[in-house]
Amino acid sequence: MILDAPPKPEQSSEDVVLVERIERFTPDDLDALCEATDAAILDGGGFGWVQSPGRRALEAYYRGVVLVPERVLFVARLNGHIVGSAHLVRPPRNNEAQAFAAHMMHAFIAPYARGHRLATALTLKVEEFARESGYQVLNLDVRETQTAAIRLYDALGYERWGENPEYALVRGQVIKGYYYTKRLRPRRGQTQD
Ligand SMILES: CC(C)(COP(=O)(O)OP(=O)(O)OC[C@H]1O[C@@H](n2cnc3c(N)ncnc32)[C@H](O)[C@@H]1OP(=O)(O)O)[C@@H](O)C(=O)NCCC(=O)NCCS
Repeated sequence: MILDAPPKPEQSSEDVVLVERIERFTPDDLDALCEATDAAILDGGGFGWVQSPGRRALEAYYRGVVLVPERVLFVARLNGHIVGSAHLVRPPRNNEAQAFAAHMMHAFIAPYARGHRLATALTLKVEEFARESGYQVLNLDVRETQTAAIRLYDALGYERWGENPEYALVRGQVIKGYYYTKRLRPRRGQTQD
């Protein structure tokens, strides 16, 4: 099994962590986001790309993401510098039956910024946005090799409801995937725990 969980860095009490929605980029922000994405891809962890598509393709990709109405992009900052991101994906407008559920995708923190609880803050921010947008459920999926992410989502109360033995193909190796769901609001007639 490939493990993607490096040792945690020491956190300085002066580190400032922030997560927020981003709708347009300054040149510095776009540069930092592409650098963080590149680092996460090289580290082998979780983003859809197995190899970096290169800086120009990444820039074009992110400029496109913030224009797509079905996607909401969130970024994590360490001392002001973007070091990770996550997408909230809304259900397609023609899918009335699943209009209650949003999806979180492509969550990552660059290896050089892990261990500052940024992924925790990012996930909670996406949940808060989803809840305020009226979604009742947040779904996500991970490779079985993403051990840090699995621990994180377990700790945040996500329920694993299924697995796909042929979820991803990474450098010739077939990797299993796990599907998770979390209810953001109690069902009608239920009270919150
Ligand atoms: C998963 C990931 C986002 C965690 O980022 P992070 O900012 O370092 O995480 P946090 O500091 O918020 O840690 C939260 C929890 O995650 C788990 N975790 C984080 N780093 C870990 C590690 N090295 N080993 C095991 N668990 C770890 C723990 O449960 C941790 O809680 P704890 O500190 O109370 O034990 C990051 O490792 C990453 O980007 N991995 C590759 C991409 C990926 O897996 N994305 C998710 C699915 S697409």
